[in-house]
Amino acid sequence: MTNTYPSLQPFDLADEAGYQAWREVRLAGYVALAADAVVPVSDIARLDASEHAAILEHCRATNFAIYEVTGGGATEKQAIRELGRQFGLEHLDMNLRADEDSITSLRVMDAAAGTHYIPYTNRPLNWHTDGYYNRPDRQVRGIVMHCVSASASGGENLLLDPEIAYLLLRDENPDYIRALMQPDAMTIPPNIEAGVELRAAQSGPVFSVAADTGALHMRYTARSRSIEWKDDRNTRKAVGFLLELLASDSIYTVRHRLRAGQGIICNNVLHKREAFSNDAAAGQQRLLYRARYHDRIQGT
Ligand SMILES: [Fe+2]
Repeated sequence: MTNTYPSLQPFDLADEAGYQAWREVRLAGYVALAADAVVPVSDIARLDASEHAAILEHCRATNFAIYEVTGGGATEKQAIRELGRQFGLEHLDMNLRADEDSITSLRVMDAAAGTHYIPYTNRPLNWHTDGYYNRPDRQVRGIVMHCVSASASGGENLLLDPEIAYLLLRDENPDYIRALMQPDAMTIPPNIEAGVELRAAQSGPVFSVAADTGALHMRYTARSRSIEWKDDRNTRKAVGFLLELLASDSIYTVRHRLRAGQGIICNNVLHKREAFSNDAAAGQQRLLYRARYHDRIQGT
């Protein structure tokens, strides 16, 4: 994997010049490229060189790309798997409810069918990155979300590049970054169901820099229950600033409602989902395939 800014240490608080140089490139990239543009592809399992380059260009600039299958190519789970592979996304994250092949079908499920998790309902999902409750060595760095069928209404996704969140926080106060890089900044209590501990408590930083790639990684949830933030002044202020940023209509936030055949490939960017409603009689029932990877998109 390559570091996009090999000569700079933009995420090192001691390297102000490196940060400023990176910052300029990053903001210019946002202006140069419409972050909400949809890249048309004919077959996600076998992208041609220009389709691959277009998706990669978006991911390099904003850490995500929205694509649309326009050529009638397959969109089965196997095709999603192939799409990921073309970007170095290979190692799937196992989660509690992934289907056997570790690609999750996100759809509304009966409470009786066994879950109270919001992803499997039509309720809104607040801002988060995926897998924030995972162990440090099992962090989710890449995601593909593919829309097989859309809801009757609602269900928009909001997306924000974590590098932009980092940039805006650091511009506001570098101490906010220092606070959010503490190894115990955010703790998720254990997941206990029916007296059985399914997952141990998980502490970690919000922002971290991967030793191998120099890439920024963000671990975050805006949920207020079942999260323990480190009880110090700068962490509290940083978390408050971030919440306000996410609630504001930042020009960097992209809002997009996925249609059938569209999808998002990303470096686990911040995302949110609005509430939606299905119409079973009209065949409008939201179904998304979601693949989570421990890998980051190659070349970003
Ligand atoms: Fe998510």
